[in-house]
Amino acid sequence: MNNIILCGFMGCGKTTVGKNLAKLADMKFIDMDKYIEDKAQMTVKEIFAEKGEDGFRDMEHQACIDLAKENNNVIAAGGGTLTFERNTEVLSKTGTIVLIDASYKTLCDRLKNDTARPLLQTENRNEKIRELLDSRMPLYKKASSITVNGNLPPKKVAQEIIDKVK
Ligand code: S3P
Repeated sequence: MNNIILCGFMGCGKTTVGKNLAKLADMKFIDMDKYIEDKAQMTVKEIFAEKGEDGFRDMEHQACIDLAKENNNVIAAGGGTLTFERNTEVLSKTGTIVLIDASYKTLCDRLKNDTARPLLQTENRNEKIRELLDSRMPLYKKASSITVNGNLPPKKVAQEIIDKVK
């Protein structure tokens, strides 16, 4: 299987880079959150509100199983996807997991006006980003085999992925 799975924190550029990468590499782009939303006919925000985070995580795991059956896709995972061993196990068998590593400052800048991500709708958003980033980074590193610099413009990141995955 030759899929490329993009991993990293919310705001690191998984979707934008993924679209650029799919174009450059002549692959299909799939956004996992969008896949979950289309299947559930609900937004991620609505799923969290109605079914809780655990309900969302189960749907996310099912999405990993579904998408692992396809080939030649660039898959933008969610920011939490590759922090769960059961998802890493499924996705690592279906292609290369690439970590897009953006700095804390880049992430805070990109996420400052976000209203769609349930985990960030807290009073002190930057503190929440710090806390989640610190706990998740070791898991992202463990799940991925390649790391690219997510502070660069999306087209450059996409090119870096092509060069490194070859
Ligand atoms: C999440 C990240 C989101 C989405 C959900 C949970 C997370 O995806 O899956 O809000 O746990 O970090 P993006 O990284 O695409 O924003």
